[in-house]
Amino acid sequence: MLVTGKELLLDAQKKGYAVGAFNINNMEIIQAIIEAAEETNSPVILQASQGGIKYAGIEYISALGKLAARNAKVPVALHLDHGTDFDQVMLCIRHGFSSVMIDGSRFPLEENILYTKKVIEVAKAVGVSVEAELGKIGGTEDHITVDEKDATFTDPQEALRFVNETDVDFLAIAVGTAHGVYKGEPKLDFDRIKTIRETISVPLVLHGSSGVSEEALKKAISLGISKINIDTDLRIAFAEGVKNFIKDNPANIDPRKILTPAKEQMKAKIKEKMEIFGSVNKA
Ligand code: G3H
Ligand code: 13P
Ligand code: ZN
Ligand code: NA
Repeated sequence: MLVTGKELLLDAQKKGYAVGAFNINNMEIIQAIIEAAEETNSPVILQASQGGIKYAGIEYISALGKLAARNAKVPVALHLDHGTDFDQVMLCIRHGFSSVMIDGSRFPLEENILYTKKVIEVAKAVGVSVEAELGKIGGTEDHITVDEKDATFTDPQEALRFVNETDVDFLAIAVGTAHGVYKGEPKLDFDRIKTIRETISVPLVLHGSSGVSEEALKKAISLGISKINIDTDLRIAFAEGVKNFIKDNPANIDPRKILTPAKEQMKAKIKEKMEIFGSVNKA
């Protein structure tokens, strides 16, 4: 069934697990995520980035996402990942997304607050939940690259002010993760997660979570992370599946045969993450 992100994350927060939010770009990826969620009885978030929407088209991605969510045996939210402008967020709300992210992290605090508030006013009126971001997460998304040196960790007191003034439903924090593949071992600022958790009460979101060790993810969840975003690890699984199939079956030209092992490999990776997140049997 299709539910809001807020509903899923409040349950996760209460019970001390995290909901996986996996990036969607096409039908096979959506199927891999939904099958993994149903087979593990996990709640899950399907999230489309602006790049994903550009690739598939808003009509296709929203139709596929809503259909998958409505037919699923587990609760599913359809979420916009890193919405960077008001119109894009409105487009997603109009197309039935149950949850949206407005990412004003590139702005100074005051502007980020105003920017986020504008979306929240509309989204709340129509029952759509809102994620915002405070602090700058490193790496590249939607072709915007934040260098390691420009990544700034979330300040707990700023987070308090941000949440009080915006009334946001859940907050993405910058605590040492980065989007994409890590060059070295990522170092998470666990004390910061703990302090932010003690300072604000909304569910917290960890972006850039591919490549973060199982141990670090579990620790982050135990300290109060309730939503974990994964894209890169799924891309790796998908690409491996395609490459291995083509290597072993160079004469095969059937897209269905080529994409099936990719989908299966992705599904296995998603199930692995769900075990780590503790979302298994929480649907
Ligand atoms: O946060 C970034 C996600 O990995 C989406 O990446 O903008 O290339 O779709 P994308
Ligand atoms: P990764 O690609 O590093 O998993 O990050 C995903 C993400 O944060 C999507 O918003
Ligand atoms: Zn992200
Ligand atoms: Na990452």
